[in-house]
Amino acid sequence: MKIRQSHDQDIKKIMQIHVDAFGAKEGPIVSELIKNLLNDPTAIPQLSLVAEENRDLIGHITFSKVEIEETQQQLESRILGPLAVAPKAMKQGIGSKLVMTGCEQLMQSGVNLIFVYGDPNYYSRFGFTTASKIGLLPPHPIPIEYEEAWMVKKLTANIPNNMNSKIKCCKALNDPIHW
Ligand SMILES: CC(C)(COP(=O)(O)OP(=O)(O)OC[C@H]1O[C@@H](n2cnc3c(N)ncnc32)[C@H](O)[C@@H]1OP(=O)(O)O)[C@@H](O)C(=O)NCCC(=O)NCCS
Repeated sequence: MKIRQSHDQDIKKIMQIHVDAFGAKEGPIVSELIKNLLNDPTAIPQLSLVAEENRDLIGHITFSKVEIEETQQQLESRILGPLAVAPKAMKQGIGSKLVMTGCEQLMQSGVNLIFVYGDPNYYSRFGFTTASKIGLLPPHPIPIEYEEAWMVKKLTANIPNNMNSKIKCCKALNDPIHW
């Protein structure tokens, strides 16, 4: 299995992975989001990676640009997601490899912070912690019971612990339907 950057011609297979992984209700919404996200100029710089085995695509992850509003410090930031692994390939470490490869590449390219809105039980294993604890708020209010699902991973040491800033996502992710 290898991880590589996605190409334009992968789009149909990528959308299918998200449909299959997220299921009948959420799948079509997420795959439409993926199509929009991969064509969104406001998401750039964007890192889109696929997991490929025997010329078959079995996983996909994307990291798109976010801005931190009203902060003095210049912090280069991305948001992880969506992430999906084809059902036949789940629980074999592919999701983890996509997350870790993406974070490593972003760290090498000088990114400071990566956000994610997802299951804390999954993302905490990669070093993501509750973002509101350091004062970084999501672009839209999220239900109090999901507060711990709004997370951030610090890639560099120069991150203040007491910011009071809101995050602005790219156009495709900013639709309140995704929050
Ligand atoms: C979540 C997902 C990407 C994980 O990919 P994967 O390749 O199966 O994950 P890995 O093999 O790297 O890791 C599997 C581990 O994650 C756990 N896990 C999988 N999905 C999880 C979830 N939603 N919440 C918490 N833990 C989860 C498994 O129980 C397993 O735990 P273990 O290592 O203790 O056995 C995949 O299950 C998927 O595509 N799910 C549907 C779409 C989705 O929920 N995407 C993420 C949105 S936040």
